[in-house]
Amino acid sequence: MSELLDIQTITKICELVERESGIHLDLSKEYLLKTRLAPFIKKHKFGTQIDFTTQILANPKYLHEVVELLTTNETYWFRDDRLWSILQQQLIPDLLDDLIHNRRRNVSIWSSACSTGQEPYSIGMSIMNEIDKRGISKDYYRLFRILATDLSDNNLHHAQKGIYSSAQMQRGTTEDHMTYFKSTHNNCHQIHPELGQIIEFRKLNLLSPFHYELDKFDLVFCRNVLIYFKEDMKNEILKKIHNTMESDAFLILGSTEAILQDQLFTFEPRYKNICYKKRLNT
Ligand SMILES: C[S@@+](CC[C@H](N)C(=O)[O-])C[C@H]1O[C@@H](n2cnc3c(N)ncnc32)[C@H](O)[C@@H]1O
Repeated sequence: MSELLDIQTITKICELVERESGIHLDLSKEYLLKTRLAPFIKKHKFGTQIDFTTQILANPKYLHEVVELLTTNETYWFRDDRLWSILQQQLIPDLLDDLIHNRRRNVSIWSSACSTGQEPYSIGMSIMNEIDKRGISKDYYRLFRILATDLSDNNLHHAQKGIYSSAQMQRGTTEDHMTYFKSTHNNCHQIHPELGQIIEFRKLNLLSPFHYELDKFDLVFCRNVLIYFKEDMKNEILKKIHNTMESDAFLILGSTEAILQDQLFTFEPRYKNICYKKRLNT
């Protein structure tokens, strides 16, 4: 079966996946491609390389399936300790202070490659925890809106259901977080409806134009996705993100995705340079 995936076919698949998702793959990922595509080839009983590539080109459903198989979904709760301690100890408390003192009417947050939901739910739990800790009205929950988007239908479906296995729970949650879940059968845990209510999930390809009915965002998470894109595509996406942000908004990238010199964003020393501030007049 793997003989179906010769160098030419793999190159073609890499081109198609990059065109559809921006994810840059090349022959160095040959092993990964072969492993992830093997069940797909078996399922659809493709006979030859030509059969395989023509069918993928002709049938959007197949292409969609291939992109789903080749995106990396790796995620977990409160990923990157340093970030979450700044968020929970400084940034979220500051945003809540702004609401309490009428310096903002609401807070819009965007988790732009949310995978199976652990990132937006971690944001939601941190917000609810801050509100509960202060003993103020739960009405404040609803002043926060989190939009969570991803390219992958499978990931969004999982995120929306909000049910996680114990193996998934073990990657980042502690006993304290259990108030935001209820146990279900088979040792799984489901997100509490109150937390689900402040998050809206939607499909969005970062390569497409961004059309939002929403207000601009105060905080944007774009973590561990730009690393898969080529430089020019990454810069294009950062420009579009910049346009979706309020003038005093912050951008948070993955820990290995630093922007060094940039006209669009600058480090924010107030939050230990862990997030970027939008530059104005660019
Ligand atoms: C490694 S996960 C990162 C999840 C989360 N942000 C985190 O840091 O834990 C990358 C996610 O990016 C999504 N993705 C890949 N290409 C995308 C695109 N062009 N538009 C939107 N999402 C994309 C994948 O489906 C996957 O869920």
